[in-house]
Amino acid sequence: MHIRWATPGDISSLLEIEKDALTAAHWSREQYQSAFSQSGLPRILLVIEENTVIQGFLVARAVGQEWEIENLAVAAAVRRRGLGQRLLAHFLRLARQQAASISLEVRDSNRAARCLFEQSGFIACGRRTNYYRDPEEDAVLYSLRG
Ligand SMILES: CC(C)(COP(=O)(O)OP(=O)(O)OC[C@H]1O[C@@H](n2cnc3c(N)ncnc32)[C@H](O)[C@@H]1OP(=O)(O)O)[C@@H](O)C(=O)NCCC(=O)NCCS
Repeated sequence: MHIRWATPGDISSLLEIEKDALTAAHWSREQYQSAFSQSGLPRILLVIEENTVIQGFLVARAVGQEWEIENLAVAAAVRRRGLGQRLLAHFLRLARQQAASISLEVRDSNRAARCLFEQSGFIACGRRTNYYRDPEEDAVLYSLRG
């Protein structure tokens, strides 16, 4: 397994993984392209590969010293093998060098993601009622001190 920074050439693979990850955030190709542009907020975009095939990714952005994890997804066929945990740990090592805190929001019913984040030290710190659509659901907010 190998974790590296994503490049614009990886966008098709990210979209492909997203297709099978209903609970992930869903971005258009243009949104991913703009995430790579130098003009926006600072971002960390990581991919995890097995035998040069991208099997997961993580996208986060910084607003000042606050980092927000915007998306994290692992290909459906290789879940529960530690890839998500490795991606998250790698991101935390990078972000903690400069972050005062790291936050994210997740669907209330997304047990896999909630267990992963809680296992990594994130604390549930709030809720946004009916934040998600299709289906409508609350978002649970998580935070980790940097
Ligand atoms: C959430 C997600 C990224 C986890 O990736 P993964 O590679 O399967 O996770 P890991 O194998 O690294 O699991 C690490 C820990 O997370 C928790 N976890 C992962 N999947 C779980 C599941 N289906 N049920 C309960 N806990 C789960 C466990 O605590 C696990 O540790 P353990 O295996 O020692 O018990 C993956 O399920 C996914 O892509 N889901 C769809 C997209 C999504 O919802 N993203 C989150 C948006 S915020």
